This record gives sequence, C-alpha cells and structure tokens, in this order.
Amino acid sequence: MDPIFQVERVGKSYKNAKVSEKVLHDVTFGVERGEIVAILGPSGCGKSTLLNLLGGFERPDEGTVLFEGKPVDGPSRNCVMIFQQYGLLPWRTVRKNVEIGLERTGLTAGERRRRAEEYIERVGLSDRIDHFPHQLSGGMQQRVALARALAVRPKVLLMDEPFGALDTFNRYALQNELLRLQESEKQTVVLVTHDIDEAVFLADRILVMVSGPGRIRREIRIPDYKPRDRGSPQFQHYRKVIYDLFHLSGQEIQTEFAI
Ligand SMILES: Nc1ncnc2c1ncn2[C@@H]1O[C@H](COP(=O)(O)OP(=O)(O)O)[C@@H](O)[C@H]1O
Ligand SMILES: [Mg+2]
Repeated sequence: MDPIFQVERVGKSYKNAKVSEKVLHDVTFGVERGEIVAILGPSGCGKSTLLNLLGGFERPDEGTVLFEGKPVDGPSRNCVMIFQQYGLLPWRTVRKNVEIGLERTGLTAGERRRRAEEYIERVGLSDRIDHFPHQLSGGMQQRVALARALAVRPKVLLMDEPFGALDTFNRYALQNELLRLQESEKQTVVLVTHDIDEAVFLADRILVMVSGPGRIRREIRIPDYKPRDRGSPQFQHYRKVIYDLFHLSGQEIQTEFAI
C-alpha cells in the first residue's frame, strides 16, 4: 500500500445568492500510486469540486486532502489537469502547444523540443506536428492535450470528463490510448466522469457518488482482467452492477443485452 492521495472527512460548501449550499459531505477515500480511479456520478454531484480539491485549485472547509502525506496547499506540477475543452492555444502549432507545458521546468530549449517530439509521437501525431489546432479533429486536439500533460511527466493525471466532447469512435480510441500510455508511464490517474461505460472500461476502482450533498455511496473494485474489452462478460457485469445501483437497469438495457 502506497497511498498518493488521502482524502479524510472532507466537506465543502459554496455560497450562491447568500444561500450556502453543501456540495460535498464527509468524503473519505484514498488513491494508491499507479492506480486509475474513476469518480462517477450524475451532473452536479460535486465531482469537479472534488477533483479541484485534489489538484489544489480549491480548499476544503472541513477535513483534509493529503498528497504524499502532506496537505495540498495549491496547484503543483506533480498533478496535471486535463479538461473536456482541450485548452490548446489556437495560435500555436501542435509542437508549441506541447512545449508550453515545459517552460520553467529547467529544461534547455533543445531538451524541450526533443521531449515534445517524443510525446507527440507517443500519441500518434508526428505527422501533424506543425499543424494548428483548428486543422485537427476533436480527437486529435485531445491527443495533443494528453501529450502536453504527459510531457511534463507528472505523478498524477487529473481528468475532468476528458472525452465527453468526442463522438463514440473517437472516445473509444482515446480511452484505449489512455490505457496504453498509462501502462508504460504508470501515472496515477483520477478521472471524473458521468459515463458508466467509461468508468468501467478505464478504472481499477470506481467511487460512485450521489448528490444532495455530494458524497461517495459505493466503492467498486474492477479486477485486473486483460485485455480490457467492452464486449467481455466482465465488462457487462460491472456495467450492470452500476446500472442497478442507480435503478437504471430495465427493459431497455435487457433488450440491448439480447441483441
Ligand atoms: N465556484 C463555485 N461557486 C459556487 N457554486 C459552485 C462552484 N463550483 C461548483 N458549484 C456548485 O457545486 C455543485 C457541484 O458542482 P460540480 O462540482 O461542478 O459538479 P459536477 O462536476 O459533478 O457536475 C453544483 O451545484 C454547482 O452549482
Ligand atoms: Mg463537472
């Protein structure tokens, strides 16, 4: 056991129009080094808030968030965040967008260049290295964002619904890619999603959240079956466990299974 994050009894409220709203209540969990953890729940249940606490972009009102045993007191290069809206600079090429993450890291210009090329190759975009973001598809833009994050060699990737804007084909391709890259880089990944399939496909462990106020209702460990396959009985099983948890499993889903 080597916990990288320890979240203990965290509570968080926001004040909206003079009314205080409790967004997170009594949230406790740990993340092991090298683990992929998915935080799954409906929109508005506090997933992004929780991720922002891990990344040091927000502070808890109650409880503690520890990173490698120390309280998180602000954003750091150890944890890089990837969002749904790629966050690329439109006036910079792919190469320059990846290099920008490497500024002020102590690397020389030559090292930055080589590092950027290495990670652009890893995400399969070497032939687009001098393109601008508007010349790329959404899937390619998210690959650039992934390369930019990985090039920093962070200990943790924090991902907030990173594939939510992509069509099914691109989403599946990027999910496969993420597993492949994580297998070689061994980063810890904390992923926020409202997509049940995405959580089951990617995660070693799923924290299922409910709202009002946001809290963790259930932890589901996904055994390490290989290769991860969306058509496998294991995948269908865990998907159904979660559907049932939200009372979503019904005629519609059974019909889908019967096809
Ligand atoms: N900066 C903020 N100021 C005020 N309220 C916020 C802020 N961020 C989030 N909230 C509120 O907290 C709740 C949870 O939001 P969020 O963490 O974004 O949920 P999720 O990511 O699960 O959709 C929502 O009701 C939202 O309106
Ligand atoms: Mg969110």
